[in-house]
Amino acid sequence: MRWLVTGGAGYIGAHVVAALSEAGVETVVLDDLSTGRAARVPLGVPLVRADVRDAALVREVVRRHRPDGVIHLAARKDVAESHAHPLRYYRDNLDGLRAVLAAAASGRTPSVLFSSSAAVYGTPRRSPVREDDPAEPENAYGRTKLVGEWMLRDAATGGGFRWAALRYFNVAGAAAAHLRDEGGTNLVPRLLRAAALGIPATVYGTDYPTPDGTAVRDYVHVCDVADAHVRAALALHERELDGEVLNVGRGEGASVLQMIAAVSAAVRRPLPYAAAPRRPGDPAAVVASPARILARLGWRARHDLPDIVHSSLAEPAQAA
Ligand SMILES: NC(=O)c1ccc[n+]([C@@H]2O[C@H](COP(=O)([O-])OP(=O)(O)OC[C@H]3O[C@@H](n4cnc5c(N)ncnc54)[C@H](O)[C@@H]3O)[C@@H](O)[C@H]2O)c1
Repeated sequence: MRWLVTGGAGYIGAHVVAALSEAGVETVVLDDLSTGRAARVPLGVPLVRADVRDAALVREVVRRHRPDGVIHLAARKDVAESHAHPLRYYRDNLDGLRAVLAAAASGRTPSVLFSSSAAVYGTPRRSPVREDDPAEPENAYGRTKLVGEWMLRDAATGGGFRWAALRYFNVAGAAAAHLRDEGGTNLVPRLLRAAALGIPATVYGTDYPTPDGTAVRDYVHVCDVADAHVRAALALHERELDGEVLNVGRGEGASVLQMIAAVSAAVRRPLPYAAAPRRPGDPAAVVASPARILARLGWRARHDLPDIVHSSLAEPAQAA
């Protein structure tokens, strides 16, 4: 079996590629390396360095490699940037997906698996949030993901392929040092960078309606997220999954202050922090119900918060 992975040189994509190859699935990576790195792609895996919005090129890649499915991760993901440049987000995230869907339809690719996000929920009306709960994204990034799910559903109807969308919650941790998230915006790398530099971490918003006033998120280990992709890809291939949206989260929330405590424990010194105003488009609390993905794919997260934080450290904790 062979799958095309767009964004496979990125943080999550590289873990997905590694997990697929461990499961005996061949991969081809399409990535423009705008935020990804070629060094994350294992030797022997073809890397097509190209822009996924180039529909003719994606069609040609699908024609040449004849994949059994496409996992589409390539996208922009910075909430604050999406607030400042909404049209750039609509163009990049939706043109990329449109090129993938058109190629899948014309190449008779049997399956498409789409990276969606918990950002589609906005501020959920209940916690944990379920897939059928209202999707009311509060930022342009989340809206591109919700529109993406609609595009996928519509394109699959006429395009003759099976599909699923995985709504990841807050992905963190790493399988190996060279696969770590080096993005500037996610909380765990931000806290670790502050700890390494000996500067206070910034806490955006201390007046949320949450137990300690800081925002609560569902942090899920990237290896668990990669495992969800392998299970979904195999289930799509076996025709056991089609037309499903699935949450990928642990089902447990942690506040920013709890994450600061977890990082402090991992680096064995208290991490100071400074309060700053809320960022636009940041909801108070977002925690997944993982019941549906457990029922459909037998998936549940195996890694806890300490695993997530320890695996993100530049130096393994035992060597500290
Ligand atoms: N990190 C998270 O917590 C999280 C949560 C929910 C959803 N997601 C989604 O998961 C996916 C991957 O996120 P990530 O954290 O690995 O980010 P990332 O930035 O590390 O990976 C994105 C990859 O896509 C590539 N890319 C971007 N635009 C491209 C284009 N036009 N053409 C070709 N390649 C392009 C980048 O070079 C990079 O390798 C994204 O779709 C993101 O929206 C991430």
